[in-house]
Amino acid sequence: MTILILYYSRHGSTQEMARLIARGVEESQIEATVRTVPEVSAVCEAAQDDIPSQGDPYATTDDLRHCQGLALGSPTRFGNMAAPLKYFLEGTTALWIEGALVNKPAMVFTSTASMHGGQETTLTSMMLPLLHHGMIISGLPYTMTELNQTQSGGTPYGASRVTGSRNECSISEDEKQLCIKGGKHLAALVKQLATETNS
Ligand SMILES: Cc1cc2nc3c(=O)[nH]c(=O)nc-3n(C[C@H](O)[C@H](O)[C@H](O)COP(=O)(O)O)c2cc1C
Repeated sequence: MTILILYYSRHGSTQEMARLIARGVEESQIEATVRTVPEVSAVCEAAQDDIPSQGDPYATTDDLRHCQGLALGSPTRFGNMAAPLKYFLEGTTALWIEGALVNKPAMVFTSTASMHGGQETTLTSMMLPLLHHGMIISGLPYTMTELNQTQSGGTPYGASRVTGSRNECSISEDEKQLCIKGGKHLAALVKQLATETNS
């Protein structure tokens, strides 16, 4: 079983969250496959190499087809997910026609510069295409005590962090724990579904 951690990150904040979610998944004895997406250009189709020169490999639609769960992450861009991730998702029509993602659990995560800069809108915007794919969306339950005490990121809609306008804020302990616990929560859902399907 594998959970796909699919993210876009320009400056590394969302990438750091992806790593923490992967840690939560792997601490639950499920493999985490971490993948990113290439940049898109305003003037022409991106023609980047299939494998980036550094960082995580680019995702393919087969990564989505073969995963048992998905954590989807993006920096907030004007209150919405970033274009490279949306572009990738718009290339998943074949999976939608096949129903390849139906009933797979998913969670979302984001990073913003400012506290009230649109975390919740970004998180819910990322849920919409996943709902069209028939995925089962999981938020973060308030039994995760960090949700009540955080002074920065962390929402019931998904993991989040505040980086400051110059990326000067390192991830807080509450934000970090919510990423790890989010990964564990997703892994538990994947295991529970697998057990019920096999029984
Ligand atoms: C085009 C653009 C739009 C952005 N829009 C927002 C926004 O609406 N709210 C916000 O708080 N931050 C906004 N940001 C800042 C990023 O969300 C923030 O720096 C984030 O932490 C970057 O994540 P990354 O390090 O994974 O690239 C924007 C950044 C860019 C480049």
